[in-house]
Amino acid sequence: MSWEKEYQSKLMDAEKAVDFIKSGERVVIGHACGEPSYLVETMVSKAEQYENVEIVHMVAMGKAGYAQPGMEKHFRHNALFVGGTTRKAVEEGRGDYTPCFFYRIPSLFTNGSLPVDVAMIQATAPDENGNMSLGISVDYTLPAAKAAKKVLVQVNKEMPRTAGDSCINVADANIVAIVEHDAPIIELAPPKIGEVEKAIGANCASLINDGDTLQLGIGAIPDAVLLFLKEKKDLGIHSEMFSDGVVELVEQGVITNKKKTTHVGKFVANFLMGTKRLYDFVNNNPDVEMYSVDYVNNPLVVMKEDNIVSINSCVQIDLMGQAASETVGYKQISGVGGQVDFIRGAAMSKNGRSILAFPSTAAKGTVSKIVPLLDEGAAVTTSRNDIDYAVTEYGIAKLSGKSLKDRARALIEIAHPDFRESLKQVYEQRFHCKYE
Ligand code: COA
Repeated sequence: MSWEKEYQSKLMDAEKAVDFIKSGERVVIGHACGEPSYLVETMVSKAEQYENVEIVHMVAMGKAGYAQPGMEKHFRHNALFVGGTTRKAVEEGRGDYTPCFFYRIPSLFTNGSLPVDVAMIQATAPDENGNMSLGISVDYTLPAAKAAKKVLVQVNKEMPRTAGDSCINVADANIVAIVEHDAPIIELAPPKIGEVEKAIGANCASLINDGDTLQLGIGAIPDAVLLFLKEKKDLGIHSEMFSDGVVELVEQGVITNKKKTTHVGKFVANFLMGTKRLYDFVNNNPDVEMYSVDYVNNPLVVMKEDNIVSINSCVQIDLMGQAASETVGYKQISGVGGQVDFIRGAAMSKNGRSILAFPSTAAKGTVSKIVPLLDEGAAVTTSRNDIDYAVTEYGIAKLSGKSLKDRARALIEIAHPDFRESLKQVYEQRFHCKYE
């Protein structure tokens, strides 16, 4: 059968497509801004017909109706990352969090840990060969679609077609339903960058050299770093994700990817979050290559890129250099994401460096992020053995290669002045010496 005929035979409305999901099955939903919101909302609207469907999702940028109170009987949310829409469900015990390095998530789908009954994904319309691109979310979404017994696809003409390895084919035997629904792709507005973020950005930028390749996390700090890179030359991108800030540096000729060791001349990422400006930039752009996360984030792949600089953030760091990036005490507020994947990859790369950049205080200046000990219940995301640089608005602390005593001192020097005295007292007790 031609792919065109296969397409017609699989085409149906969303109500019928979600009937492929059966009670007790595991459904993996496409990631972040690539979420197939129309299919997800249709499934939630038919909640009464399901019992105990496990929903596996990472960054949930849609309404996450399956995680709302009252849905417990029908859906059980298993979060691979906790965000604004799912935090309460996990906190209140209506959902679970499964810890896993991002690059290893696809292996959970194939090694018997989380076999996929249904993958619910979004894609472009097919090209002349029947290939549908997963566009801005290839990450774990493509591996889930390959591993699933049944794939439900929302075909959306608004989804950018991306290069790299981002496609499934209409003829793939496990695609059981195709639903056409055009709607704007979910956008993430650029974050507000204040004076603190700018100072952190300037400090991070001082660690970046011409020709370096960057991995940038999400949020105000990575965007603030980009503001201070305008004078640099020939930067490259090999990153879990990137957003709008990068487009500006391409237009200014700062990011060229020319000096990269792998994928020379190309951006490499596994998902994208931003505005239409970003989505238009990547659409049919042969220089933006999207691959699955088990490739992009694999530390053994990251390490092949010389001069890679990884920039991420944390919630709290103790005086030993242990960083909690995903919990506030017992409360799970996000996930490990690709933080450790890149920190370890950068550690093995020739001239690689990793930075944890964060404001010195939280909760409107009432608590220090640099603390004697992590809060009870906090998970260590980045271990003291992995950490390289810590950066706040007050400066840069190089921690790798430093003794416990020297790293404690380096961290106190970049703490907020309001908290330095109490930290110095801890230092004196712990190390039996004067802080001078
Ligand atoms: N004590 C108490 N509360 C704290 C705190 C602390 N030390 N640090 C943060 N918080 C609170 C904030 O006040 C905020 O609360 P609110 O939502 O009620 O305002 C919340 O926790 C989130 O903190 P914030 O600093 O605003 O988060 P952020 O958006 O800057 O993200 C991380 C910071 C660390 C959560 C984020 O970078 C992350 O999830 N990292 C791990 C994953 C990762 O690095 N992935 C790699 C690439 S994407």
